[in-house]
Amino acid sequence: MRKTQVRGLALCAAVAVSLSLTACGARGAGVSGGDDGTFTIKFSHVVTPETPKGKAAEKFKEVVEKNSGGRIKVQIYPNSELYGDKDELQALQSNSVQMLAPASAKFTTIAPELQVLDLPFLFDSVEDIPKVASPETQAGKAIYANKALAGKKIKPLGLWDNGLKQLSSNSEMRKPADVAGHSFRIQPSDVLDSQFKKWGASATPMAFSEVYNALQQGVVDGQENPYSNIESQNMHTVQKHITESNHGYVGYVLVINTDFFNKLPKDLQDTVVKAADEASTFNRQVAAQINEEAKQTILKSGKTKITKLSDAERQAFKDAVVPSVWREYEDVIGKEIIGELLKEQGQ
Ligand code: LMR
Repeated sequence: MRKTQVRGLALCAAVAVSLSLTACGARGAGVSGGDDGTFTIKFSHVVTPETPKGKAAEKFKEVVEKNSGGRIKVQIYPNSELYGDKDELQALQSNSVQMLAPASAKFTTIAPELQVLDLPFLFDSVEDIPKVASPETQAGKAIYANKALAGKKIKPLGLWDNGLKQLSSNSEMRKPADVAGHSFRIQPSDVLDSQFKKWGASATPMAFSEVYNALQQGVVDGQENPYSNIESQNMHTVQKHITESNHGYVGYVLVINTDFFNKLPKDLQDTVVKAADEASTFNRQVAAQINEEAKQTILKSGKTKITKLSDAERQAFKDAVVPSVWREYEDVIGKEIIGELLKEQGQ
């Protein structure tokens, strides 16, 4: 059993007792409070508490509970224990949970423009991330002003990092031809589907909570994720190779149910916004370090060989998808934004 599954069962039991639910996953709608002047935010996410998202969620809870003088309580449900990829956005819209931080790719059906953050090789290194994925950048402003999100009563409060994605599988991957013919799990994003197709591989969208089993059972050959997600889900124990490709980004949009937010008294709205800002700053301070530590844990486990690409090898992966995949999604993401981003790439 995975360590996350053990933790999951323990938490299921605790959740069931504290919320008087009969089974983990029961939908506790309408308990966001307000009648006695206190409010409860249920914050659901799909990764472990030790990851950049997990830690930032805990920071948000700590700050908002302290600064609201206890008028806001935050209950965090990590690891897809209450809701997973398939139902968490629905749960947010029905106010069964009040906050989430899904990866940009998870918004593809609701707001396909957010796939801007999924474009392959958008970043060469983690230092470049804030230049594109911050509330004050063109892409960030577009996410905050996204009409489709607003229409679904989803209000962005922050942009959080995990980090850059690496490729994992059971064979060494130094060039696109090594990836070709293999199957990879992807997040549900058309951009990611195109990326793998350009490399000659096939791609299967799948919920995050299902990836470990799919790799273990050989349903797919590989997947892409930052080190922290690979290590915390024990994926490295069922993947012989990781290519340090830094070929894409996993970033999150911290969101709150708009109706819930609007019902908060003004001072508590400010408290929530400021706590989200503080958690976002904290997230950026710790994300790279958490990924580095996860990489060291993977190396020490001796289970997976990590292959570093030379600049030329990485460039070969990049040339197969940039600018072709970027241009393919111009109409979805926005011609202007793609044009700006390509200019920054010197294209
Ligand atoms: C994935 O599905 O691979 C990631 O988006 C999970 C996460 O939230 O980091």
